[in-house]
Amino acid sequence: MTNRPRLTVLGTGYLGITHAACMASQGFEVLGFDTDAEKVARLSAGEVPIYEPGLEELVKEGLSSGRLAFTGSYERTAEFGDVHFLCVGTPQRRDGFGADLSQIETCLARLAPELRRPCLVVGKSTVPVGSAASLASWVAQLAPVADAAELCWSPEFLREGHGVHDTLSPDRIVIGVSSRHAENVLRQVYAPQIEAGIPLFVTDLATAELAKVAANAFLATKISFINAVAEVCDAANADVTVLADVLGADPRIGSAFLRPGLGYGGGCLPKDVRAFLARAAELGTEDALEFLRDVDAINLGRRTAMVNLATEALGGSVTGKSVCVLGASFKPGSDDVRDSPALDVAQILHGLGADITVYDPAAMDNARKACPEFTYADSVIMAADGADIVLLLTDWPEFAAIDPEKLGEVTAARRIIDGRYMLNPATWRAAGWSYRASGVPGPKTSDQHS
Ligand code: UGA
Repeated sequence: MTNRPRLTVLGTGYLGITHAACMASQGFEVLGFDTDAEKVARLSAGEVPIYEPGLEELVKEGLSSGRLAFTGSYERTAEFGDVHFLCVGTPQRRDGFGADLSQIETCLARLAPELRRPCLVVGKSTVPVGSAASLASWVAQLAPVADAAELCWSPEFLREGHGVHDTLSPDRIVIGVSSRHAENVLRQVYAPQIEAGIPLFVTDLATAELAKVAANAFLATKISFINAVAEVCDAANADVTVLADVLGADPRIGSAFLRPGLGYGGGCLPKDVRAFLARAAELGTEDALEFLRDVDAINLGRRTAMVNLATEALGGSVTGKSVCVLGASFKPGSDDVRDSPALDVAQILHGLGADITVYDPAAMDNARKACPEFTYADSVIMAADGADIVLLLTDWPEFAAIDPEKLGEVTAARRIIDGRYMLNPATWRAAGWSYRASGVPGPKTSDQHS
């Protein structure tokens, strides 16, 4: 193996494409693999099928430099790589809280029999603790080079929408390894980051696996904490937005992930909290993580609370009412609608008989596919046309700039519920709107103009 190991990246989702393109931008030769032939063709043509700022430029650069290519062949992938990164999905199982590892298992079952020279297989996907150790011996059994195909784990902490930055300049790098050789190879792979002074943690396999799921569980806990406190604020007529600022000013607490609102969603936090609970139960330590059940319940409770608030604001029933939903992605800066709190709320209201019109700056195509039953509009104003109520459900920055006067000219009534605390209640109330947000003091049911 030369100083510059050749890399492959298996799975071209948010994580895989970003990892492949960033590694190519740092001078590595990289081959991306996916079983989806259409995706491989699009990526090979420089087309990135996801919304991730800065990524398409990096993919195009990689392709034209000749350092980045994509394939659908396991044989070619195995032959090309000194280091194979596993970036396939590990969603929640259909039959419970645990993680579904079938994509990883399928991938390794096809790749390992082709591994004919020494290499590292590096898991990046989030897996239950203990998975890496059993996958390592399985790969060694299947691979023609036996234990010269060594499996390690290096979890990824990138946030969607910030993937390029988080990959090139992460807060920390974790490598879970079983040998000095694997550590040395991964030090070469992460050399640019290590030289830039980014902390590197060399751990065993189990600690590396836990580093990821524990981080996501902690972030989820912080969000659910402030959301639980929002309910108390509601009952006590206190203001959770001010309270969050006060708490966040304590450096021991910190303001990050203390933003109250409709709660967390997406393809990571919700399923990772549940998979952590499921794995703890398998290990006989379920009691230790029992509080994560509450974290999950508080999070889902925000969605029902929003539905209740909307129903109350509409006089007790949403049937036949026109509801304008602002936001469809699970968070701003992303087109991902997996477990989106916004779409979940819209679906419940739709089930109760409301007519839903949605606008989102980036996630319209994905939302249309996930919820074809809604009407979609091309702008905030078009979505609000004739609405009985406006629900702001994803905190896209452009929603903070909505002019209450202009919006009020097209709606049927001036009612708004701010699910993400983006608007200034005084400004909206002064413009004649009934402004509601859980945990923010103010008029509860009386519409000022309707
Ligand atoms: C999350 C983690 O932040 C990443 O470190 C991790 O690598 C990734 O999961 C993963 O496991 O792959 P991501 O799902 O992209 O990243 O989204 P976040 O930015 O973490 O936001 C998660 C959710 O929490 C969003 O729905 C967001 O709206 C919500 N959130 C976030 C809040 O409700 N309040 C906050 O203060 C912060």
